[in-house]
Amino acid sequence: MKEYKICIIGFGAVGKGVAKAISLKKDNIKEKYNANLKIVAAADSSSSAISSDGLDEELLLKTKEETGKLESYPNFGGNLNGMEILNEVDYDILIDVTPTNIETGEPALSLTLKAFEDGKDVITSNKGHLAIKFKELIATARENNVQFKYESTVGGAMPIINFVQETLNSCEVESIIGILNGTTNYILSRMTTEGSSYINTLNESQELGIAETDPTQDVEGIDAACKTVILANSILGVDAVYSDVDVTGISQITSEAISLAKKDGYLIKLIGEVSKEELKVSPRLVKQGSQYDLNGTLNMATVKTDLAGDVTVVGKGAGSLETASAILTDLINVIKMK
Ligand code: HSE
Repeated sequence: MKEYKICIIGFGAVGKGVAKAISLKKDNIKEKYNANLKIVAAADSSSSAISSDGLDEELLLKTKEETGKLESYPNFGGNLNGMEILNEVDYDILIDVTPTNIETGEPALSLTLKAFEDGKDVITSNKGHLAIKFKELIATARENNVQFKYESTVGGAMPIINFVQETLNSCEVESIIGILNGTTNYILSRMTTEGSSYINTLNESQELGIAETDPTQDVEGIDAACKTVILANSILGVDAVYSDVDVTGISQITSEAISLAKKDGYLIKLIGEVSKEELKVSPRLVKQGSQYDLNGTLNMATVKTDLAGDVTVVGKGAGSLETASAILTDLINVIKMK
């Protein structure tokens, strides 16, 4: 039985989901892949818990739930930050689930580069560093001969990156179009079906843990724009960065506009479009009953290919355990390659 020592940096909705998913699936993974997953460190933005013998996932969750911090984890709580952990802890795989920062890409950028330099594999759900330095990150991972996985950065539980790279690998992808943000789909669909107000649904999406730490990133289209950059690079092979995206969010969409569209048989959706020529995120009118007519946190993407024609995927685009499912898929894929 091979042991894999894991550091989880970031312990918000997604980090907690990762701990839960490991707790739920570790026995199954042991049996199926002969792999023993051990969380040797976890850190939130102000505290940490570290144990070379492995931390108990449920106790991590309980500690965070009850005290808001990991510092109070019995006997092993402390105050090391992410970088200090990477410097001090003996680990194999970094799971970076820190919040996205589209200005600097930090803290994910420094943590990831440090892990690469130390020969560690990295799985991330953070979109910031990928949207500004995709090429550099992939090149550095290659130079250091480590694995770098980021399935959960686009579409949460909706399979897209691994699916296209591995299952549609006979095809050239011409474009991808779809709903790439769960929070805005939740807001727009609740406004449409229940007449809820924009601000109330935005607050709800924060309470549900589907919005980004800074929800402006969702409603202003920044999150979806990051995802178009990640898809452009990883699937279309385009060397794109965040500033290449033409972005308009949904903050100016009124209840009146939604009602008017509805009367005419249309819905308003935030649509992301990726092709070699253009990266674009904007609210668009789509037909009721069309493939875009999806409610709640669902995401969808239609991948236009040369051989297979159009292939459409649908799945929950946000949520703690849903996003963690994609991270666990990446973790299993990393283990399988070792
Ligand atoms: N805030 C993001 C969304 C989370 O709503 O889609 C998943 O990337």
